[in-house]
Amino acid sequence: MTRLERVALSCFDNFPHAWRQFPSAMRSQIGNKIWVLDALAAMLEIPRTKIEHTDHHRSHAASAFFASPYESAAVLTIDGMGEDVSSAIWHGRGTQLECVRSIAYPHSIGLLYAAITAWLGFEVNEGEYKVMGLAAFGKPRFKAEFSELVRLQPNGEFELEMSYFAFHTDSDIAFSSKMEKILGPRRMRGKPWNLENDIQDQHFADVAASLQWITEEMILRLAQQAQQATGEDTLCLAGGVALNCVANARILRETGFKQVFVQPAAGDAGGALGAAMLGWIELAGSRPQAMSTAALGTGISNDRARELCRSLDLTWEEPEDPFSSFARLIAQEKVGAFARGRFEWGPRALGQRSILASPCDAGMRDRINRVVKKRELFRPFAPAVLRSRSNDWFYEHDNHMTPFMTTTARIQANRESSLGAVRHVDGSARVQTVDQRSAVDLNHALEAVEACGMPPVLLNTSLNGNGEPIVASEADALAFYLSHPLDFMLVGDLLLTKRG
Ligand SMILES: [Fe+2]
Repeated sequence: MTRLERVALSCFDNFPHAWRQFPSAMRSQIGNKIWVLDALAAMLEIPRTKIEHTDHHRSHAASAFFASPYESAAVLTIDGMGEDVSSAIWHGRGTQLECVRSIAYPHSIGLLYAAITAWLGFEVNEGEYKVMGLAAFGKPRFKAEFSELVRLQPNGEFELEMSYFAFHTDSDIAFSSKMEKILGPRRMRGKPWNLENDIQDQHFADVAASLQWITEEMILRLAQQAQQATGEDTLCLAGGVALNCVANARILRETGFKQVFVQPAAGDAGGALGAAMLGWIELAGSRPQAMSTAALGTGISNDRARELCRSLDLTWEEPEDPFSSFARLIAQEKVGAFARGRFEWGPRALGQRSILASPCDAGMRDRINRVVKKRELFRPFAPAVLRSRSNDWFYEHDNHMTPFMTTTARIQANRESSLGAVRHVDGSARVQTVDQRSAVDLNHALEAVEACGMPPVLLNTSLNGNGEPIVASEADALAFYLSHPLDFMLVGDLLLTKRG
């Protein structure tokens, strides 16, 4: 109801500009959303009164704090928008979560990022992480322009200059014609990127860098405010903007927080986790266990995989030590995949459903981008590293974000030439530290790779093709193996290898 009220008020406030948005906005809010609790009750065959619900940002805050290892912490939730809030500072203590301050729609870091994502020709709610990757290729030359789009206050609050935006008046476009006057014409959607030779694409990369600059400024100021308001030295972050791992790294480096925690499903999927944890606390009166692994999904059955291989006429081996076999293939520069264990919760591939390869040569990055993932060549790949060895390879290694790949670290200067496939253009990497608790199979694989004389590091990317959903089941895994140019795959204990 709060959201419906906010949408209706926004349409009335912006009348007559919002007249085109009004019918679709109302349809979207009054359609299934308003009856969702009744629909859930009917689906679960329970009385409607048995269903509790919680605010969007409280769910985000709960998913961050109650999954964290901290007894007390500052909590920051930042996204496009919830019901009517876009950012909030919370104080988490034991089983309590208190909202200290909030910033209301339409002033929103997530909606600013979304508007520029659209201006850059990417899909909103899909392309934001591409913008973050693109930013490293540009220079923040447009600080003055972005300072006009956003009025930053010294106390961490901010306001968007709404004349540059259109998301409050139009359902189809997030920015106004005034945005194109200040930043230039938008980029054509779907046009191939050519950062090396196209001066216009370099301009777009510079805008992405400028957006990233102001985003980091806003997040850092909010983090400082959160520290002042709570007096805590640990911070938990959630909301879609908390997946901005470059900003997360800066919070840890540049604010007074000693530790920062961001669980892997920090975006809206994590709202379900937060709501479940709030329900747990209400029923059990105590906090659930801290999250130590993202492997919370359904598992892989060897029997089911064998049955499918037989029906598809595929041959396989079941080596006694699949990790040694895996490591030998990686050492031969083969590109493989893991579909083992329970699949990971959240948007990051963390070793249960992953494409894996040697991290050493930049040619491997280009090959996987071009041939396997079929995506923009500027997109970086992440390294997974044995946690016990991470201090030999990365600066700022091993904190509470690295098991979930929600921050970045710089590769040590003397190691840069050994990690060409996972080094981003600015020398950073979205590192994942791996141990027995966080990703047991990937831990064994990294140990086996090191035993073969290679770095204890693997290139790790999600097991899906461009625009495809992530592989979940045995059938998904085999379909991916048959339709993409992988050299080998471990599906449970079954090793499938393509000849040649
Ligand atoms: Fe959200």
